[in-house]
Amino acid sequence: MELTVNDGAATAIAEILEDWGSALGADHRGYLNHAIRVVQVADLLHLRAGGGEAELPSGRLEFIVAAAFHDLGIWSDGTWDYLPPSIERARQWLTESGHEDRIPLVTTMIDDHHKLRPAGEPLSPIELFRKADTVDFSSGVLRFGIPSGDYRAVRRAFPSSGFHRKLVRLAAAAAVRHPLDPAPMVKF
Ligand SMILES: [Fe+2]
Repeated sequence: MELTVNDGAATAIAEILEDWGSALGADHRGYLNHAIRVVQVADLLHLRAGGGEAELPSGRLEFIVAAAFHDLGIWSDGTWDYLPPSIERARQWLTESGHEDRIPLVTTMIDDHHKLRPAGEPLSPIELFRKADTVDFSSGVLRFGIPSGDYRAVRRAFPSSGFHRKLVRLAAAAAVRHPLDPAPMVKF
């Protein structure tokens, strides 16, 4: 498949993450590409669920901001319990850029992104974002009906660059340190 890349979305996410360059350190490229892939995969899921071209996630501010910040707390605040700080950083950005109206939606998109069950209707931004992160987090093992070639095209355009290896290392470290609560971000 010919991948349609929304360069505007990729650039916007990169600009937000510029401010976090030193916190992200060697993981900057890996996290940036993950955030961009999530938005690209959300576009594929949106179309698959019958959504229109005019409302593609990659053209919507809530997806850009949720993608840029959804895991950032791992690096900005150095914690594996990263949903609260990720939400806080997103709220700060939305407030400073005059988009307070998006705070409730972006908060829920981030807060529910590791929910194990559906978080809304197929076309809701919360559900599209949850599924898109799951597709990329699982390296396309879970695809919610997206053809594997379509996911591979996204992954070729924006490679993992160590992101998945890093997550495995962090998860293993958390399992050793907090064996009774190794995944505080997962919700049922
Ligand atoms: Fe993620």
